[in-house]
Amino acid sequence: MVSAIYPGSFDPVTRGHLDLIERALPLFDRLTVAVAANSTKTATFTAEERVEMLREVLPKDKRLSVTSFRGLVVDFCKSQGIGAVLRGVRTVSDFEYEYQMALTNRHMAPGIETVFVMPSVQYSYVSSSLIREIVRNGGDVASFLPPQVERRLRDRLRPLSSPS
Ligand code: COA
Repeated sequence: MVSAIYPGSFDPVTRGHLDLIERALPLFDRLTVAVAANSTKTATFTAEERVEMLREVLPKDKRLSVTSFRGLVVDFCKSQGIGAVLRGVRTVSDFEYEYQMALTNRHMAPGIETVFVMPSVQYSYVSSSLIREIVRNGGDVASFLPPQVERRLRDRLRPLSSPS
């Protein structure tokens, strides 16, 4: 039984994340998508809201679950009996950060392996913060976000030009 975690900020979840989850799901018996509640980033949505959006848009599959966690990814893995960390590598610049994180996690928890999956090329350049910036400035993000998530993001970030 191989259980994996896909940790991230998911602020908000994008079609790129969903693509990665779909590609990785056949590799594992269980996949926990986990929102990092203590990320160093300033979040647009609360951890609860991010979990809620993930639950709304993820495929209904009994192998998939969604949660949030605080502290180190590896500590959460140990507490849940999870043996693998799923990460996406989109670009060469991602690689350096992911390489450091994977090896540091291995140092802290030698039994937990990081598994890298490449997202589809059409999502390889997007990130949640770029999408937030487009929305803030009134641009079109329909190809990057599921409609429910887009609605929530537009409600949260009114374009700069909108009257308050
Ligand atoms: N499609 C679209 N965008 C993607 C993506 C994909 N397939 N994969 C990643 N991204 C984007 C995300 O939207 C995010 O964009 P943003 O920076 O604009 O918000 C960016 O790539 C990277 O985000 P993510 O994969 O969510 O990683 P992260 O660096 O925000 O968080 C954690 C990684 C969860 C491991 C870390 O933040 C954390 O808090 N860990 C807890 C402490 C810990 O254990 N640290 C590791 C010690 S070695």
